[in-house]
Amino acid sequence: MARKSPSRRKSGMFHEGLSSFTGLIAWPMLCLFSKMNIREIHETDAAAFLELMHSIDEESPFAVLKPGERKTTVAEQRDEIRALMVHDNRKIFIAEDGAELIGWVGAWGERFERVRHSVWLSVAVRQDYRRLGIGMQLFGKLESWAWQREIRRMELQVAATNLPAIRLYLKAGFQIEGTRREAYFTGDEFIDEYLMARLLKAPEPPKNLYPKW
Ligand SMILES: CC(C)(COP(=O)(O)OP(=O)(O)OC[C@H]1O[C@@H](n2cnc3c(N)ncnc32)[C@H](O)[C@@H]1OP(=O)(O)O)[C@@H](O)C(=O)NCCC(=O)NCCS
Repeated sequence: MARKSPSRRKSGMFHEGLSSFTGLIAWPMLCLFSKMNIREIHETDAAAFLELMHSIDEESPFAVLKPGERKTTVAEQRDEIRALMVHDNRKIFIAEDGAELIGWVGAWGERFERVRHSVWLSVAVRQDYRRLGIGMQLFGKLESWAWQREIRRMELQVAATNLPAIRLYLKAGFQIEGTRREAYFTGDEFIDEYLMARLLKAPEPPKNLYPKW
C-alpha cells in the first residue's frame, strides 16, 4: 500500500538511527508542532485501524500476518473493537497524526481471577514514523492504564531477530523469560521467539535529596 510520507521526513529532520536524546525530545516537539496524539480506540476508528494494520503487514517482515492474509472486514473490525471495550482489562491505544493513524498498542487480559492481573501486548508503529519515541509513548500510556486496573504483569512474544522491537522492550523494562524454539516461519527459515515480560511495581517514593536537619 503506497503511503505518503510526512513532510518532515522528506526534509530529513528525522531519520532512522536517531539517538536516545533525540528520541526523548522528538515526541514533545511533535506534539507541539503537529497534530500528534495518543488516545484509546473507538468503534469509529475501525476502517482507519484496519488500514494501519494492512500497511504494517505490508512493510514489516516481523508481522505475524503476511501481506494479503488479513481478511477482516471493517464491520468485523468494528465488532472486535466493541467486544474489546466490554472488558476492563483489554485495551487498544492508537497514535494519530491529525486524521491518520500511525501506531497502536494493545493489551488483552484474561477473564479468570487468578490470571486477570496479566495481559498480552502487541505494538506497531507505521514505518515512516518510527524512531521518534512513539513506541515508548504508547507503552507509557498503556502502563498508566494497566496500573490503574491492578494489572501487574505485561507479556509478549517477539521474533528473536526483531532487534528494533527487542530493544524497545528492554528499554521499557521487559526481560526475556524464555525461548519458543522455531515458533516463527519467515517462508525461508524457522526462527525462535522470545517470551518477554515486565512486572509493574509501585513507583518508588521520591528520595530525600536534603540531609537530615
Ligand atoms: C518495534 C517498533 C514498534 C518500535 O517503535 P518506534 O516508535 O520506532 O520506537 P521508539 O522510537 O519509541 O524507540 C524506542 C527505543 O527502541 C529501540 N529501537 C527502536 N527502533 C530501533 C531500531 N530500528 N534499531 C535499534 N533500536 C531501535 C531504541 O532503543 C529506541 O530508543 P532510542 O531511540 O532512544 O535509541 C517499530 O519498529 C515497529 O512497529 N516495528 C514493526 C512491527 C513490530 O515488529 N512490532 C513488534 C512485534 S513483537
